[in-house]
Formats: sequence, C-alpha cells, structure tokens
Amino acid sequence: MRRILRNRIIFIAYFIVSTGSIIWLVSTCGPGCTTEHVGGDSMADYYKHELERTRANVRQTEKKIRTITQTLNKQYAKAADAVNEILGIESPQIPTIYAITPTYTRPVQKAELVRLTQTFLHVSNFHWIVVEDSERKTQLVSRFLTNSGLPYTHLNVKTTDEYKLKENEASWRKPRGVDQRNIGVDWILENVPQAEEGVVYFADDDNTYSLQIFDEMRTTQKVSVWPVGLVGGLRFERPLLNDAGKVSSWYTVWEPNRPFAMDMAGFAVSLKLFRQQPHARFDITSRRGYVESSLLVQLGIRKEDLEPLAEKCSKVLVWHTRTEKPKWKQEDKLITLGKPSDPRIEV
Ligand code: UGA
Ligand code: MN
Repeated sequence: MRRILRNRIIFIAYFIVSTGSIIWLVSTCGPGCTTEHVGGDSMADYYKHELERTRANVRQTEKKIRTITQTLNKQYAKAADAVNEILGIESPQIPTIYAITPTYTRPVQKAELVRLTQTFLHVSNFHWIVVEDSERKTQLVSRFLTNSGLPYTHLNVKTTDEYKLKENEASWRKPRGVDQRNIGVDWILENVPQAEEGVVYFADDDNTYSLQIFDEMRTTQKVSVWPVGLVGGLRFERPLLNDAGKVSSWYTVWEPNRPFAMDMAGFAVSLKLFRQQPHARFDITSRRGYVESSLLVQLGIRKEDLEPLAEKCSKVLVWHTRTEKPKWKQEDKLITLGKPSDPRIEV
C-alpha cells in the first residue's frame, strides 16, 4: 500500500515537472523555439546579420568591379565595354568620336594605317572615316579596312591638280588632306542621326596618338584644345591659358598671329557645333599654316570659348610624327634590271 502511494507520488511529481517544463518552454520561446536558438540571437536576428554581411560583400565586390572597369576604361576602353557586357552592366551612352583621316598611296601607307588601327581599336564608341586622296578607292585600303575590326567609312576624293603636290615639290608648298577632311565632314553631317552626339577629330595618318587624348576629347562641348608634340620646329606647341583658365594665346614661334595657331592634331570639334554651322569647312585657298584657322573662324568660335584639355594644356598626348620616306635604291636597281620584287607581296 505504501509502495503504491509512493509510486503515485513519484508519478504525480513527474507529471507536474514535465508538464511544467513544457508550459515554460512554450511560454518563453513559442513553437519551434529549440531550433531558433543560434549563438544566443533569435533566428530573425541571425538572418538579418547574415543579410547585412552578404550585402556588404556584394557592395565590396561591386566596388572592385567598378575599380577594374575604371582602370580598364583609362587604358583599354573596349575591354571595359566587354567586361560590362559580361556582367550585364549597361555602359553609359557616350558621344561617338569620328576621326577623319586623309591618306594617300605611298610606300609607308599600310604601315601608317596599321599603327593607327592598333591605337583606335582600344577606343570605344569610335568611328573611323578614312578618305583616300585618289580617283578610286584602292584595293589596299579597302581590304585593309575590311579586316581592321573597326567601324569605318571609306571615302575618296582626289585633290584637284592645282593643289596636288608634285613629286619632289616641298611639302609645305601646298596644304594637304583638305578636300579629304571636308568630304569627311560632309559624310558625318549627312549620315549621323540628329539625336546622336559626337566629336569630330582630324587624325592625320602619320601622327602618334595616346589613348588618353580620346578620353579627354570625348567631353568636347564646342572646340577642345591641347598641346601637340614635335611640331612647328619646336619640342611642342600649346595653347597658353590666362588666370581664369581660358586660352589667351599660343606657345608657337611660327606665325604666332594666326587666329588659332594650332596644328590639326591639337583640337576637336563637337558634332553639335558642326550642325549649328553646317557650311563651315577647311579653306584650301588659305595661306600656308592658316588651314586650321580657316575652319575654326567659320565655326564662329572665340578664343575664350575653347576648352583646354590635357591638364590645362600642360601634357603632350599627341605627336606630330612624320615618317621618313624609305630608301629604295636597291629596289630601283632591280626595276631597271627588269627584276622588281614580287608584286604579289603587299607591303
Ligand atoms: C601639317 C599638319 O599637321 C597637317 O594637318 C596639315 O594638313 C599639313 O601640315 C598642311 O600644311 O596641309 P604634315 O605632316 O606636313 O602636316 O602633312 P602630311 O602628314 O604630309 O599630310 C597631312 C594629311 O594629308 C595626312 O593624313 C596625309 O596622308 C594626307 N595627304 C598628304 C593626302 O591626303 N594627300 C597628299 O598628297 C598628301
Ligand atoms: Mn603629318
């Protein structure tokens, strides 16, 4: 009897303790409480922290990607475009640079075009307008452009005899590439949709262009300017700025009184300004050294309106290099012997 009573007491005590425990557990934690305890935080807190951590990671990764694309953009804009495309990041709409290059048949022509192409391939939103000084488009240039990998337009116009340099005539006697640049501008005004923004640059085929100059000129509102190396019989020529940071004169020795004493390679014009002054072109009849000025005067621009680039015109990013005419003494001898080199090999 006492044993039965003892068992009953044990049973009741057990019942009270276990039921009490369950009630306590449920009241303090709620259903599923046992699994919600992690590291002392509630489940919600835990996920909140995890989310914040993941967000911070994503932000850091995004920052790294931005740094990579910015770095690429400076040096290899095309590569930056590719990275953006892979990551599905839309690259911002930037004005297209239209580079107009007059060119003519001569032994070094293909080498010049290769050098230019391998610079321009690194420039994003770039359109090359190659204008041959010839009656017909040559096979060499046509083939070359087809395989260049660049968006391009191939045009041709032969400089009229009156202005064409004669063989062995000193090159400064007549302006070069004028008709070619002008029909390049015609093409742009006729073919680029009005809504599109652009910058026009006159890129002779023998100069040397750093990639940075294209980055700089892309912001051109009217006319932007910068120094040019190895020109005018000097180490460099450049626009000089006043205290307000505007162009006041030019550092040049030759003909310093030209309205715009700059080489062709030292400025770019916005497509907007060309549209506002659609008849402005280079004047082939202008005095020696005044071809650049002839266009800029017609564009109605004032010196104060010029936009100085390249760190306040203190950096040379373009060089007026000139390629030496190759010596073909041996080739000439072989020609007289009736044994010229294999014409099927393009140089
Ligand atoms: C300098 C300037 O840098 C040129 O922009 C300017 O056109 C020239 O003077 C001028 O006074 O007219 P420079 O190096 O002496 O340049 O000229 P080139 O490089 O021989 O010619 C300028 C451009 O015209 C080149 O792209 C060249 O391929 C082209 N050109 C030259 C022709 O289309 N046809 C020619 O008969 C000669
Ligand atoms: Mn040149």
